Amino acid sequence: MTTACLMTTYQPLALSFIKGLGTRLWDQAGREYLDAVAGVAVTNVGHSHPKIVSAISEQAGLLLHTSNLYSIDWQQRLAEKLTRLSGMERAFFNNSGAEANETALKLARLYGWHKGIEQPLVVVMENAFHGRTLGTLSASDGPAVRLGFNELPGDFIKVPFGDLKALDTVQQAHGPRIVAILMEPIQGESGVQRAPPGYLKAVRELCNRRSWLLMLDEIQTGIGRTGQWFAFQHEGIVPDVMTLAKGLGNGVPIGACLARAEPRSYSPPAAMAARSAVIHWPAGSVAPCWRSLKNKAC
Ligand SMILES: Cc1ncc(COP(=O)(O)O)c(C=O)c1O
Repeated sequence: MTTACLMTTYQPLALSFIKGLGTRLWDQAGREYLDAVAGVAVTNVGHSHPKIVSAISEQAGLLLHTSNLYSIDWQQRLAEKLTRLSGMERAFFNNSGAEANETALKLARLYGWHKGIEQPLVVVMENAFHGRTLGTLSASDGPAVRLGFNELPGDFIKVPFGDLKALDTVQQAHGPRIVAILMEPIQGESGVQRAPPGYLKAVRELCNRRSWLLMLDEIQTGIGRTGQWFAFQHEGIVPDVMTLAKGLGNGVPIGACLARAEPRSYSPPAAMAARSAVIHWPAGSVAPCWRSLKNKAC
């Protein structure tokens, strides 16, 4: 096998798998491996799960894509299920986690626009990872992902993860321009970093006091990975916006941005979901929604 025609991005190992079943993988020489990586938090229910295999096969023979010009019944059903599980009210589907976060960042911009803030700022965390589009790279931290991509779009302020005093300081310095905090409840790519107990709740309270949106990136922590459907549920809070991907599709490309329909002082409330749909028009395939819906035990 040669990789000469591929762009050199991830420098993959000289190891290629041809088959997977549950937690096991097999390489080209027939050697068996225990898959402890799970596609980096993607294959939550394992490889070749029989329900997934039959769901994808069945849908591929029926219909793969129509576009968002039409109502997509499975999208609506998945939205209903996710909003019910999370306590959110609206969902918007994309093809990846980075796109879901782009939607969240657009909602933050719209929120600021509605409030008449000309240059809205989003607070993000040091060592965060939110994706590899230019916008989400900008919200992410560290040379490992950002090197070579300057100038990245601005509009972000970084604070140390878990540090409430730092949030107070940015509030004093930039308060009127801040519209949202975007963070992972548990940082994933930087090595499974947890914030001190009570931090998330305190951030929620700060967002309430300042009318900022609390936007949680649950792309790695969501869909049951921490023992609850979503990591924020351990803290007894609900964010204003939440993003999902990875385990939502178990390998099929899908992302979702969920929002409470009426964040404080956002008006008119119904415009939030409608506007995001107008601005960000995803592929909206039928199959990933259908698969995702059919195979989660909820
Ligand atoms: C917390 C978090 N956010 C966003 C992303 C980006 O998701 P995707 O690779 O689906 O664009 C990742 C991917 O690792 C992630 O871990």
